[in-house]
Amino acid sequence: MDSFIDYSYVLSAFLFVLGLKMMNRADRARAGNLMSALGMVLAVAASFFNSHITNYIWIFLGLGLGGIIGAVSARRVQMTQMPEMVALFNGSGGIAALLLGWGEYHSHRAVSSAGAATIFLSVLIGGISFSGSIIAWAKLKEKLSGKPLLFPGQKILSSLLLLIVVGLGILYSLNPADRYSAFLVIIVMSFLLGVLGVLPIGGADMPVVISLLNSYTGIAAASAGFVVQNNILIVAGALVGASGFILTRLMCKAMNRSLTNVLFSGFGMTDSSSGSGTKGEVKAISIEDAYHVLEAAHSVVVVPGYGMAVAQAQHAVKELAQILEERDCEVSYAIHPVAGRMPGHMNVLLAEADIPYDQLIEMEEINPRMGTVDVCLVIGANDVVNPSARADKTSPIYGMPVINADSAKHVFVFKRSMASGFAGIENPLFYLPNTRMIFGDAKVSLQALVKEFKVV
Ligand code: TAP
Repeated sequence: MDSFIDYSYVLSAFLFVLGLKMMNRADRARAGNLMSALGMVLAVAASFFNSHITNYIWIFLGLGLGGIIGAVSARRVQMTQMPEMVALFNGSGGIAALLLGWGEYHSHRAVSSAGAATIFLSVLIGGISFSGSIIAWAKLKEKLSGKPLLFPGQKILSSLLLLIVVGLGILYSLNPADRYSAFLVIIVMSFLLGVLGVLPIGGADMPVVISLLNSYTGIAAASAGFVVQNNILIVAGALVGASGFILTRLMCKAMNRSLTNVLFSGFGMTDSSSGSGTKGEVKAISIEDAYHVLEAAHSVVVVPGYGMAVAQAQHAVKELAQILEERDCEVSYAIHPVAGRMPGHMNVLLAEADIPYDQLIEMEEINPRMGTVDVCLVIGANDVVNPSARADKTSPIYGMPVINADSAKHVFVFKRSMASGFAGIENPLFYLPNTRMIFGDAKVSLQALVKEFKVV
């Protein structure tokens, strides 16, 4: 039976890796997700044959309850609330690792020092992921202020707490049977560390933090795997830990910021503005005039951003694109890696509107072509098309790669006001002579444009 379980685990691990690989491409992502889910079903099913399990009632109860909560919340969640949901799932993974370590403490008091060290890691990292994820969720849900909460001596306090908790961990590991009070203090301090780690981070940086916490949850799960000596838990935890960390790095790179800057700089604490100021005049354009320009266009590039998600304008974008294509206009979509508020945000929204994947072009590929584009439609995007990131050394986002919307012959910006985006800075694009603003909710403006095409 043991070798049957082991073979099933190997197959599960293979399915996890294959699923991850398939998620590399948008058109295979759904199948990749299914593949990994299948791997998980197989891993759980094989675990039932473990000869150490004597009581199945609690397992089935947990499985049923967890399954129902997971399925219902996944069906109900709005796309814009996805980061909150991932935060809650990370928190659940963290607390599971902590409880498992705690349970093991009671059932194996005479554990070796190495065994105790894995219990300590599982509890510490699990606790940090749990409380950190809850704070991240509260910030995104606006139960807590989204601004970074900083106080003097915060870094020193966190470093001190970390030192103490590691010291207690060593004490506990050296003499596991006799250190329950130290163990309990470790649990409390792990929660504190998670809270103190996430409070100083601005709400809009949460996707990066959530991805980092996801990575922590993976490491906590892998430690829990060592605690209960379950190979597939170690493999799955390591995969989550590594992929979460890679994603975190990719997001930081796309914003041209270091992880330390995201974690400690308090980005978004004050409303900053571009150092050199903006020159020129903001010019609005009516729907009717915008129609006349678009009607003559041969190539249109859509740059979607966070505002498209807020307005849920993806279907209206598709409708306009279809009309333009019927008139022999070439339409493509320029995708910035951190447009929106979570990785792949724009890809998912555009896929929801059945926009063909091959029309989605990565930033590096589309930028050299932007000079030949007749009209660039900026739909609720702001920071990701801010030219000061290229030219203004005093700008907080200087160095962040952006889509060169300003190079297009005409630029139409769909937004409600002159308000700034996530970075809280002015955007000189709005003042350029080739830019026209279409003020209002993006979906309403796009629907009005579609109507104009249909009427005329
Ligand atoms: P933002 O710079 O945040 O700009 C969004 C714009 O959408 C705002 O200027 C807003 O202007 C407009 N908007 C909001 N609701 C709208 C509506 N209903 N209709 C029309 N417009 C609307 O968005 P972006 O360009 O996508 O940039 C993303 C930012 O998030 C970047 O700074 C990035 O670094 C950061 N970030 C992203 C991620 C990931 S993984 N995507 C992670 C962390 C941070 P009005 O209020 O005037 O309408």
